[in-house]
Amino acid sequence: MSFPPLKNDLILRAARGEETERAPVWVMRQAGRYLPEFRAVRAEHGFFEICRTAELAKEITLQPIRRYTGLIDAAIIFSDILVVPQALGMEVQMNPGPHFPDPLVTPADIEKLTKNVDVDKELGYVYEAITQTRHALNGEVPLIGFCGAPWTLFSYMIEGGGTKTFQKCKSWLFLYPEESKALLNRIADVCIDFLVGQIKAGAQLVQVFDSWAGELAPHHFEEFSLPSLQRIASGVREKLAAANIPAVPMTLFPKGANSQLASLADKAGYDVIGIDWCIDPADARKAVGGKVALQGNLDPMLLYGGRDAIEREVKRMCERFRGGKAPKGWICNLGHGITPGVDPEDLRWFFECVHKYSAA
Ligand code: CP3
Repeated sequence: MSFPPLKNDLILRAARGEETERAPVWVMRQAGRYLPEFRAVRAEHGFFEICRTAELAKEITLQPIRRYTGLIDAAIIFSDILVVPQALGMEVQMNPGPHFPDPLVTPADIEKLTKNVDVDKELGYVYEAITQTRHALNGEVPLIGFCGAPWTLFSYMIEGGGTKTFQKCKSWLFLYPEESKALLNRIADVCIDFLVGQIKAGAQLVQVFDSWAGELAPHHFEEFSLPSLQRIASGVREKLAAANIPAVPMTLFPKGANSQLASLADKAGYDVIGIDWCIDPADARKAVGGKVALQGNLDPMLLYGGRDAIEREVKRMCERFRGGKAPKGWICNLGHGITPGVDPEDLRWFFECVHKYSAA
């Protein structure tokens, strides 16, 4: 497939660990409810209807790129991590949070999942949205593809939605460890084909969201989440190599798993690791020892703190990531997704401060 030439490759260079003239910046959930232009489209269409309609997904993906032209360094395709459980045959509703009317209750329910999922057929609508968006971006910034991590998807498939305690899905790990591992691998195999398909369709970087990584004890993370994350990283690279398609950088966002950074940098197989705000960037640097680039990490609630606080905290973050030098191997972002009540002009100010304080 041929696409318009890329005019801004800052994020790709930072992802490869290179020095950059300033830190590239984007924010998780940048195409979302804090934008009035998103809410206007959403008022007319269902959430998964938008995901399944390339024209609408493209439009929403481009909204923050248009609004923040020249300030934002990547687009992320509008979709959701829960399209993978749908591809496995589960029903997912968005009302307003995710709801699975028929979650997995015991391992016997695994039988209800679709066997030998034809990922390209089930999720081809995401590929179509990616290809259209990549053309429409006209090379302004790279396009990010994504999926959820097996552990995070496993938790939704068993809890049936969001949870504070993770009681049901953690019970599985203790009561049915072998069945849990088999299911985690099965989810990982769908993720592998899904990411490869997104890359073939035009994604220039891919991110795996392990939003609930930090809910597991370190040894349980090692036992249950890490193997499926490694399986995805190596599986994607192998399939791309076999198809003669150049590799793209891979980011892992293991939210809250800050005690695992050294081990993840060593053995997870990703180019970039996303960190949340609960670790100091300088400590994260020390933990990963230059083996991977880092992404993050301001507390998303900072965006409610007013311009002075935003400027002060961005300046501090830049100092902690840069250590007095030119930024190297750092993709600036929040430490989790932007939330619906943020004033889009405050986000603009955040971007402006990043441009100012991260410059070499
Ligand atoms: O980053 C982007 O702008 C791209 C699109 C994107 C969405 N969800 C759109 C969305 C991405 C990358 C996601 C990832 C996602 N989805 C994650 C991992 C990231 C994270 O924040 O931890 C998770 C856990 C989900 C599951 C999910 N989807 C939840 C919990 C919710 C409801 C609450 C919420 O955070 O908004 C969704 C719905 C959702 N996904 C919305 C959007 C814009 C809002 C739904 C709506 O319009 O009604």
